[in-house]
Formats: sequence, structure tokens, C-alpha cells
Amino acid sequence: MNALSSGLGWPMTTEGPTPALGWPLGAGGTGDSAAVPRAATASADEEFPLAAAVRDDLADAVSRETGRAAPALPPMTPGVSRETGPEEPELADVDDPPIASHAPAAPPRRSEPWPRPDRQRVLGIANQKGGVGKTTSTVNLAAALAQHGERVLVIDLDPQGNASTAFGVDHRSGAPSVYNVLIGGESLDAVAVPVRDLPGLWCVPATIDLAGAEIELVSVVARESRLNKALAAIAEPYDFVLVDCPPSLGLLTVNALVASEEVLIPIQCEFYALEGLSQLLRNIELVRAHLNPKLHVSTILLTMYDGRTRLAEQVAREVRTHFGDLVLGATIPRSVRISEAPGYGQSVMTYDPASRGAIAYVDAARELAERSAAELGDTNARPAAPQDAEPARPAEERSAE
Ligand SMILES: Nc1ncnc2c1ncn2[C@@H]1O[C@H](COP(=O)(O)OP(=O)(O)OP(=O)(O)O)[C@@H](O)[C@H]1O
Ligand SMILES: [Mg+2]
Repeated sequence: MNALSSGLGWPMTTEGPTPALGWPLGAGGTGDSAAVPRAATASADEEFPLAAAVRDDLADAVSRETGRAAPALPPMTPGVSRETGPEEPELADVDDPPIASHAPAAPPRRSEPWPRPDRQRVLGIANQKGGVGKTTSTVNLAAALAQHGERVLVIDLDPQGNASTAFGVDHRSGAPSVYNVLIGGESLDAVAVPVRDLPGLWCVPATIDLAGAEIELVSVVARESRLNKALAAIAEPYDFVLVDCPPSLGLLTVNALVASEEVLIPIQCEFYALEGLSQLLRNIELVRAHLNPKLHVSTILLTMYDGRTRLAEQVAREVRTHFGDLVLGATIPRSVRISEAPGYGQSVMTYDPASRGAIAYVDAARELAERSAAELGDTNARPAAPQDAEPARPAEERSAE
């Protein structure tokens, strides 16, 4: 498909046949699909009779996987100043009370319990666009839910291991991780570790080994549903399972989508924020049609909102107009506390519970908890691809500076 960006990044599409999932077909593909041993996928076909229709596209997707991996941040020492450096004035948390930046990390709070779903809710946190707040949202929503009495599992499905870093969980190469689950067939229970200071929260870490899993999975039977199978075998169901996806639409993300009933899409309130969204929605639709009929986009979360810019306000308004009730009322502000917290192996709720970022994530998590699973089950309609929307004209970037 020929996609052009316009306005705030709503893609404008030209007429013509749409390749399945928007992945390259024919000459655009890598030919990897031919290398997939048919015998190895035979039982996958039995399990998912329609899987054959998408197998080749999925194989193409493997070759599109970025597989990039960043080294884990070295843990900062508590003595490091939490003050915003003067070199980052645009990120200043203007209305966070200055005293909060000097306060020691507050003890973990266990506040009033929120309603617990009557069955395990599995949410894939997905957006193939990088750096939009997938991991930050996964970590902080999970922490807020656990602080309010929910039993939560975070599955780090990104070889970068950022969610594992944020929780201070060991994810050096070779440590028990989601790689052992996907490739080695180990149980999630065996590799899940409790998160320090947050009772009720467990994390399945990702190591750099996961970077090779995309390729290794190609020859594995029912490779799209490895995570789903592992989730089905969990001994004691959780209230929430949040799967932090990598910034790609490859086999790891497909595994998350096959294992999830809901998709939560974080959208950064920035220029180009919406570019690629229609491709993500088409992929979700394809997985729903062929591999996981229950899959639907249940939640959209606006992240990194900078109230000083008209652009952020414009993006937020457009997303709300287009996606309506799917968008959580709470908007996550751009906040230095949010970006500092992972350096201390903490969520922003434990790092600085009084900050605007922490309060916004608590509000967002409360909304998530209050949307009952039954109610969400009706939201099975695919949101229309955003190219139908009127592209907005970029406004002056800064109004207050
Ligand atoms: N609300 C926020 N305010 C300030 N910084 C933020 C906020 N949310 C995220 N960040 C920072 O933006 C960067 C990207 O965030 P994050 O890692 O959550 O995105 P991601 O979508 O998971 O990225 P990737 O696609 O690489 O997995 C990080 O440095 C994070 O600390
Ligand atoms: Mg991430």
C-alpha cells in the first residue's frame, strides 16, 4: 500500500489492492516463507485451520523484525540528584511540587481495592512505533493495579528488556526469561519473579536472547501461539496480564496478539504519532480473523502530553474524535519523574507517588479496572483505520514559549 503522511501523521492511502496485513508481498518479501518447513507447521494448521492463509505473511514479518537491543541501564545510585538538569528545560515538570523531587522514595502504598475482573484479562500493549510509551505504560499501569489489590503479571516480550529493567528484575543473558518459555517450552510460572516493593505483581523478564527468538521460532510448531499456550497453562490465573510488545509487527508481537483478548495502544501526543496506526489496526484485524477471534482494541492511552504545546492538544483531540470511548479519559503528561523512575528500578508510583505522572497513571489504571471484562467483550468492532479521518494541519508547535 502506498501510504503518505500528512498533517499529524494520519496516513493518506491511495487506491489499489491492499496486501494482507500491509506486509510486503511478492517481490517486496524476503522469500523467508519458502524456507519454513511445511512438516513443522502441520499441527499448527490442524490447530488453526486458517493459519495457512497468513503463514507466509508472518514469515515475511519475521524478516522485518528490528531485533534491536539496547543494553540495560546501569542502576543509578540513590545519591544521584533527581533534579531536572538545566540541559533539559523543556522537560521540566513545571507543576510538580519541588519538594517532591527531594523526598525519599515513598514506601509502597496499598490503597483501596479496585474491582477485580471475573476472569483473567490479557492485554497486549502494542504499537510498532518506537518510543511511544509502551513499556512505561505497561510498567506503571501494572504497578498501579497491583497497589490497588489486583494480581498482575507483566510479560516483557521485548528483547530490549526495558520493562524488566524498570522493575529491577535480573535480565542478563542466560537468566530464566520469556525466551525459555517461547523456545524451551518452560512454564510462565517457572520464570515469573515477584517485583520488589509491589506485592501482587510478577514479571516475566526478557533477555537479549529473545532477539534471536524471532528466527528460532520460524521452525517451531504453532509458532504464533507459543505464548498463548503458555498462558493457558498458568496454575493460578491473574487479574491482569500485560504483555509489553517490541516496536515491530513480527512474530513476537503476533504471539502477544494471539495470547491477548485486548490490545492497549499507547499513542504519543506528538507529530507523526498516528502514522503506522492503520497498519497496526490491520494486523490486529488479520490476527483476529485468522488466529484469535476474541482479539479487539479495548483501550487507547494518550502519552507524553505536553500541555504547553497546541500540537499535543490537537493530537489528543483528533484521537478522541476518531476513537471515542476507547480512549481513556486520563492523559499521561510528559513528566521527568516518569522518565527518571526506571533508572532506579522503580515505577513512578513508588518513585514519586505525588508527581503528576504517578497520579495520571493511577487514574488511567483505575479506568482500566473499572471497565469490566464483560463490557469490553462487546467492543469487538474494529476501529476504522485512521486514514478516514480528516488530516489536521500542524499548528505552531509551541504556543507558550
Ligand atoms: N510520560 C512521559 N514523560 C516523559 N518521558 C517519558 C514518558 N513516557 C515515556 N517516557 C520516556 O520516553 C522514552 C520511551 O518510552 P518507552 O520506553 O516507554 O517507549 P516504548 O514505546 O516502550 O519504546 P520501544 O518502542 O523502544 O519499546 C523512555 O525514555 C521513557 O522514559
Ligand atoms: Mg518498550
